[in-house]
Amino acid sequence: MKYKDVLKDAKGNLNKSCRVCPICNGVACAGEVPGMGGKGTGEAFKINIKSLEAYKLNMRTIHDAKNPDTSLELFGRKMDMPVFAAPVSGTTLNMGGKFSEQEYISWVIGGCLESGIFPMVGDTAVDSFLITNLSELEKQGGNGIAIIKPWKNEDVIAKIKLAEKAGVFAIGMDIDACGLLTLALAGKPVMPKTVEEIKEIVKSTKLPFILKGIMTTDEALLAVQAGVDAIVVSNHGGRVLDQTPGVADVLKDIAGVVKGKVIILADGGVRSGVDILKMIALGADAVLIGRPFVSASFGGEKEGVKSYIEALKSELKSAMVLTGCKSIKNVNNRILY
Ligand SMILES: Cc1cc2nc3c(=O)[nH]c(=O)nc-3n(C[C@H](O)[C@H](O)[C@H](O)COP(=O)(O)O)c2cc1C
Repeated sequence: MKYKDVLKDAKGNLNKSCRVCPICNGVACAGEVPGMGGKGTGEAFKINIKSLEAYKLNMRTIHDAKNPDTSLELFGRKMDMPVFAAPVSGTTLNMGGKFSEQEYISWVIGGCLESGIFPMVGDTAVDSFLITNLSELEKQGGNGIAIIKPWKNEDVIAKIKLAEKAGVFAIGMDIDACGLLTLALAGKPVMPKTVEEIKEIVKSTKLPFILKGIMTTDEALLAVQAGVDAIVVSNHGGRVLDQTPGVADVLKDIAGVVKGKVIILADGGVRSGVDILKMIALGADAVLIGRPFVSASFGGEKEGVKSYIEALKSELKSAMVLTGCKSIKNVNNRILY
């Protein structure tokens, strides 16, 4: 299955909730939340793309990086490349209603695992979605990560226990969802957390803990203080606060203060192997990709997901050859122009 053909089918199946643009950049869908866009003016989504685009790569060809190794180990798992499928939930609300949460997540989980990378699954106001996501993960050996919304602590901890039962190998919280008033309206308030509250959540589990939604150096340091194992530098794909900077704008400074203290993941606007390489050069240990997994799965189910991952792998490898990077550990900001 060719990725190009996958995208053709995706357009129809997404029922106009996503136009499947040649570059998924947040322009056509600006303001469409619910939907696939960025909040308000959509700028926080668009700037993720622009900030990453603004970095250029130094091409180097006189070296011995003839067969780069794209693999790495994170959270005790070997991965073929430094990419996770980002948690994306609310299929029926956001993606046109043709496919269910269960169909979407089973294709993403299966496609990732058959291609040597791991999926993350999300959580929403509808409790059954997390249950569905976890039961699909459990069916596939628990090989993935669950990201829980910032409910009151006792509810977060109860959901962590459900994820542990499903066998996940790491757990996290998308703390940047703390302003989602729609959740409060659904009778499920989310909230910001103090360092002490995060500590309580971290201590409630033996699993590695990931805090998703860090955009400033001071909060990256607070995350370290709270004892998390990893952060995701992320503005939630521009869906929670209009007018944030792009993730690639803030990543280098954040890595400057916490690299080596926690695992650094980053997402927002990563579309290609070149984008993955840029994020790693800016200091990420690995990236998450969101929306492209929606178009890949809606266009080609599990095979569509696999074809997207294969495209990413070959783009990443080729970009590593042309920038002289022998391995992921070997990537640094020398490759950025
Ligand atoms: C429709 C949609 C639903 C999402 N649901 C969740 C979620 O449940 N939990 C979460 O942590 N992030 C969620 N996100 C954010 C993604 O995990 C990720 O941070 C973002 O999509 C990355 O940007 P990208 O789509 O440009 O790659 C969602 C994003 C979209 C587009």
